[in-house]
Amino acid sequence: MNTGDYINGRYKVIETLGKGGFGCTYLVRDLTNNGQYAAKNLTFARNNSMFSKVEELFEREVETMKELNHSQIPEFIEYLKVNQELYLIQEYIPGVTLEEEITSGKKYNEEEIICLLNEILEILKYIHNLPKKIIHRDIKPVNIIRRKNDDKLVLIDYGGVKYFAQTKCMQSQTPPTVISSGDYTPPEQKGGEAKLCSDIYALGVTAIAAITSNNLPTDRNGEITCENLANISPELKRILSKMIKPLYEYRYQKVEEVLSELKNIRNSSSSQITQVIPSLQINHPTSQSQITDRIAAAVMVVVSIYAICAAAGIIPTIKETKPYKKAISSELLS
Ligand SMILES: Nc1ncnc2c1ncn2[C@@H]1O[C@H](COP(=O)(O)OP(=O)(O)O)[C@@H](O)[C@H]1O
Ligand SMILES: [Mg+2]
Repeated sequence: MNTGDYINGRYKVIETLGKGGFGCTYLVRDLTNNGQYAAKNLTFARNNSMFSKVEELFEREVETMKELNHSQIPEFIEYLKVNQELYLIQEYIPGVTLEEEITSGKKYNEEEIICLLNEILEILKYIHNLPKKIIHRDIKPVNIIRRKNDDKLVLIDYGGVKYFAQTKCMQSQTPPTVISSGDYTPPEQKGGEAKLCSDIYALGVTAIAAITSNNLPTDRNGEITCENLANISPELKRILSKMIKPLYEYRYQKVEEVLSELKNIRNSSSSQITQVIPSLQINHPTSQSQITDRIAAAVMVVVSIYAICAAAGIIPTIKETKPYKKAISSELLS
């Protein structure tokens, strides 16, 4: 589609927001209310043998978005089939993707990484705990938008979702669909067995991409590692390394576990602050007595110098100063 084209005679294409392997997303204007929306169009070739699978995923994305109701997930508006073309119309989120933010050179500090993790984990907590237990399967910086008006992170692109609550028997009728985004995809998902903790892995890698400006560090075995990450605390490093364990059994199994450990980092950093306060109180009397000693010594020195000068006749004695003081006072009064 081109700028200026209409979808269903109602949505005017303003610009292209993104192009993926299966579809294209446009910013459109609804002529009936002048509102802006994001319209995702399935562009996969119909004559391709994979078309029915791709169409199924697109329809699953539509069904998922209809059910989701969260302030940090775009709202579903409508699903359109026009001249064999499929369109998903959803709330438009003005802002920049995390990918754009990272590549623009933004440096994230520990607090910002903890906020990023907390916000996405809260969204994941919502989708993972729905009756269908939705696994996103495509968490990565390009699928996270920082909303312009409130700086909140919004998780988009439900084109790869899987319902974990499906029974084994339903799944085994068809070969598994592998949704893979390279470095962000954990081994079990690459093998067609995505789990709830697969999203935890992808989020861990996303955080490391933010910390390292997209230079994901790897170890001798080619696995992503947090070992040498600079500027983050050992506690956060420990949490991130558990999020990205290649063997899912060693990973956090539920987002709630990660959320509670992140909360502990905050608690321990505030208890470190309160530990400083009593130690200051213990030191206080000691430093006070040191100050008193120093004042006493200084007074002694001044008194000694005064006594020596007075004895040598350099300065007048107290008795001599009295008439002098009086003379000045009477001068001022006259
Ligand atoms: N609701 C939205 N609001 C604003 N931009 C969006 C929205 N949905 C998608 N986009 C933009 O379009 C791009 C592609 O959309 P996405 O749903 O991720 O499709 P794909 O499956 O092709 O990756 C995103 O990376 C983002 O830049
Ligand atoms: Mg995407």
